[in-house]
Amino acid sequence: MTDQLFGSVAPRLSHAEQALPAPLTTPLAPEPGKTPSTRALARVLVAARPLAASAVVLGIDIGGSGIKGAPVDTDQGTLIAPRLRLPTPQPATPTAIAATVATLARHFAWSGPIGCTFPAVVKAGIIGSAANVDPGWIGRDGQALLARATGCPILLLNDADAAGIAEMELGAGRGEAGVVLLVTLGTGIGSALFVDRRLVPNTELGHLELDGKDAERRASERARERKGWSWRHWGDHVNAYLQLIERLFSPDLIIIGGGVSRKADRFFPRLRLATRVVPAALQNQAGIIGAAFTARVVGPPPL
Ligand code: BGC
Repeated sequence: MTDQLFGSVAPRLSHAEQALPAPLTTPLAPEPGKTPSTRALARVLVAARPLAASAVVLGIDIGGSGIKGAPVDTDQGTLIAPRLRLPTPQPATPTAIAATVATLARHFAWSGPIGCTFPAVVKAGIIGSAANVDPGWIGRDGQALLARATGCPILLLNDADAAGIAEMELGAGRGEAGVVLLVTLGTGIGSALFVDRRLVPNTELGHLELDGKDAERRASERARERKGWSWRHWGDHVNAYLQLIERLFSPDLIIIGGGVSRKADRFFPRLRLATRVVPAALQNQAGIIGAAFTARVVGPPPL
């Protein structure tokens, strides 16, 4: 099915270049045989309208506790089949995660391009950190590993960056210029920083120091669950964290993503910020949709 939908990647990308708006002057497609760099990702101008031709890409979101995926209609930003969620294997080693991602792709009988998130720094496919996965990932070419495991071309990017791209294109950040920050509160804290709609990749603001500790130990969803904190108490930690972000970046808009974005009414009343703060619109589907969307615009490297 996917072969028919996609044909080869190259014609799709030249189409993409034509359809993108004027400020994007450099080609999005990596040169043949080259892996897209984070420079290419940063060039994802999220204001770009979805492309004219229909395109379905398998979106996969690798998280610290679950690996979720579904085929995404990247024109509409919608899932075209029910999402499959598999638990993240523990320990979350490269071999174990690659096997789970391969199971997911097989479930959808997938043979086309995949956009995939990873909960760590990802530069040109290489994993640069491992706060919530096995340290054996550091320095590995995660993109190549997952491409081998699935037999499909894959574009790998940081999970918060993918969610941010989805929100900027299709969700709460639509039409927003200036400095926009998406913060995901989940197993860890992820961040995606946009300056006039251009992504600054791999910002890792979840590891800022808050009250002498790594911020994600106080303000992530996992911290709330582990410590058994009330929403009110945890909301105060989130407030302190966002105030720190506010002091450092003076953003125009903060978007709160992750599963907790569904429960904004429980902790938003604790937030005392001068900055506008809104919950993410795509909630926990943002990673899947953003990964698929980015893979379509940037194009995964050929196998
Ligand atoms: C990682 C980030 C990731 C975030 C959310 C953090 O621990 O360092 O790369 O985006 O968790 O998964």
